[in-house]
Amino acid sequence: MPLSIVILAAGQGKRMQSLLPKVLQPLAGEPLLGHVISAARLLKPEAIHIVYGHGGDQVKAKFANDSLHWALQAEQLGTGHALAQAMPEISDDHSVLVLFGDVPLIQVSTLQSLLDASGNSLALLSVKLNDPTGYGRVIRNNAGQVVRIVEHKDANTKERLVDECNTGVLVANAKQLKQWLSQLKNNNAQGEYYLTDVISMAVRDGLKVNGVLAPTEAEVLGVNDKVQLAEVEAHLRRQRATQLMLNGATLADPTRVDIRGNVTVGKDVFIDVNVVFVGNVHLDDNVRVGPNCYIKDTRIGAGTELFPNCVTDRAIIGPNCNIGPYARLRPEAQLADNVHIGNFVEVKKANIGSHSKANHLTYIGDADVGKQCNIGAGTITVNYDGANKWRTTIEDNAFVGSGSMLVAPVVVGAGANTGAGSTITRDAPAGKLTLARARQVTLEGWQRPKKK
Ligand code: UD1
Ligand code: CA
Repeated sequence: MPLSIVILAAGQGKRMQSLLPKVLQPLAGEPLLGHVISAARLLKPEAIHIVYGHGGDQVKAKFANDSLHWALQAEQLGTGHALAQAMPEISDDHSVLVLFGDVPLIQVSTLQSLLDASGNSLALLSVKLNDPTGYGRVIRNNAGQVVRIVEHKDANTKERLVDECNTGVLVANAKQLKQWLSQLKNNNAQGEYYLTDVISMAVRDGLKVNGVLAPTEAEVLGVNDKVQLAEVEAHLRRQRATQLMLNGATLADPTRVDIRGNVTVGKDVFIDVNVVFVGNVHLDDNVRVGPNCYIKDTRIGAGTELFPNCVTDRAIIGPNCNIGPYARLRPEAQLADNVHIGNFVEVKKANIGSHSKANHLTYIGDADVGKQCNIGAGTITVNYDGANKWRTTIEDNAFVGSGSMLVAPVVVGAGANTGAGSTITRDAPAGKLTLARARQVTLEGWQRPKKK
């Protein structure tokens, strides 16, 4: 049977106490809904429908580039009412898999076994929870068959003792779903049209409801408030750290590394505490990342070490480099091998050649630096004239004296030296020492001013 997936994402999420719609709350840097969409895509359905409502434009805008079908639920009248908004677009012969936008860790393998269990009828994903407070309870008859779901707020004391909970995930046939949804009533504690009521309708119509237990609690945790958001974040952090370790990385503490994207590693990579990875990051063999580094969309070559507190963004770092502590590599910083970038050095849109060093307090932006160069402390490539950016070229073996201002466009030739404190506004010829500063004088007879 062809598969359509519907993700319910219209709720406001009052319990979040946030101006941001709940399904846009970030989990590992990505909106909750984004995680659910990714899981849904892995099933390769015919279509993915998102039911949106609260903060709708924001939600839609966030996923504008994805091929999704949007169904507006103008008023949030409950999960059953939400699903009903998407149904007119789904043909009767489809299987419908319902996911919740606030249940982000759901695994594709679990969804696949649920689809397998549905047998063209109805399947429901449930979970046993130590603390089922707030969840709908799955009520079974004496024969162990699922007969209905009762929401926490509607449950009596005995029902509240049931620890098997509704995850919200279910599979049903579109034609039957449409019939059941049209019969929903809202005479319950919350005055809502509950999707969960289709279960008792299915049983009434003589269908068997296949209850499938989720393999882990974490993957079906719902996120309703910031406390649950942090719990789910912790699960995901642990999951991703575990994967990184299985791929060969050594982590100083798997609870203190955040992966907000994709990280690939070579052999014997070491990652110290409080490192945050964002986007696509690759760490080659023997890379060491010191504590408190923020590494975004960066490739790091084999044997390179980042000392503590470095920030990199869209940088490419060659092998055997030493970076930091406190270095900042900005977009299009490209370092060859054996480069040293020291403390409080910022590199942007610049190529730095093999064995070159800029060890202290320096800005290198819009520049091409050759091999074996030494850039003295406090050097600045003066790249911006207030309107345009200009490039600086520093050729192989140049020695740039401390405190040099290199006013671009300018070239420091191969093997050239610039004197400390020089403001270089014209090219410094190869192999020569160029000085550009007032000559030192000492004024005889000068006296300090006195207080009046
Ligand atoms: C729901 C289930 C409950 C289950 C729990 C699991 C119902 C009636 N209850 O409760 O049995 O144990 O999830 O996490 O289904 N939504 C809409 N439109 C609405 C209302 C909700 O799109 O009018 C969306 C929300 O954005 C959210 C999802 O549906 O993504 C669940 O809504 P929520 O209000 O969080 O339901 P729960 O009270 O958690
Ligand atoms: Ca919820």
